[in-house]
Amino acid sequence: MPQQREPVIIPVITIDGASGTGKGTVSQLLAKHLGWNFLDSGALYRVLALAAEKHQVALSNEKALEALAEYLNVQFIAHQGAFPTVILEGEDVTDTIRTEKVGNEASIVGALPAVRTALLDRQRAFREVPGLVTDGRDMGTVVFPDAEHKFFLLASPEVRAERRLKQLMEKGISVNLADLINELRLRDKRDQERSVAPLKPADDAVCIHTDNLTVEQVVERILLSLEGNDGKKSFPATTHLTTCEFVQVGVAE
Ligand code: C5P
Repeated sequence: MPQQREPVIIPVITIDGASGTGKGTVSQLLAKHLGWNFLDSGALYRVLALAAEKHQVALSNEKALEALAEYLNVQFIAHQGAFPTVILEGEDVTDTIRTEKVGNEASIVGALPAVRTALLDRQRAFREVPGLVTDGRDMGTVVFPDAEHKFFLLASPEVRAERRLKQLMEKGISVNLADLINELRLRDKRDQERSVAPLKPADDAVCIHTDNLTVEQVVERILLSLEGNDGKKSFPATTHLTTCEFVQVGVAE
């Protein structure tokens, strides 16, 4: 009898959290360190929101958005150590998708169940050898529930808004801090309260509180955890690594 080959399981590390927790930069650095592929799942929702605007599809038209998601002509051109270039229908939209407006619209389309289903296979296709580091809201709970290593990043709303402000200013996008905090709250509320794939830690995720940590320190803690230094056992409580059991995602009133 010919021997059956064991299927190769490609490893996945998921890093979920609200916006401004640093998950994008952390994931990208981690992917670079490991030499693995990287998927910024939020970029897909952002591109879809932009495509809807381009094709004049209303953000409430679930059927049309589902079709748009299924046939979305988008390419992610990977760069070692930097965020990918994003091409929508032949146009470079790398910077255009990063505005707060597009982020909010992404959160509106992301609340539609049919849209999420339509984007599932596209996200799972990024699972290629030697491995995948991915960030988003439901990577550990829905898209890659079998991932061996799951992390959930937390930060206080004030720190998150400051970080977002800095990122946007670096890109030459000007926003007001108070508006930014309000938008973050609204977006978090929508992301946490939606009926499908809400923003929450997977049961088996390790939480990292990032308020007092640099991006490099967060990556370092993740690497320690990957080496088998489980957060509960090896880190004293003060090192910001805990299980997520009683975690509030950190949305301000
Ligand atoms: O992470 P980012 O801020 O780019 O995501 C934009 C929006 O896309 C989020 O507010 C969220 O509503 C949506 N999103 C999602 N599921 C993901 C990633 C992003 O619903 N896995």
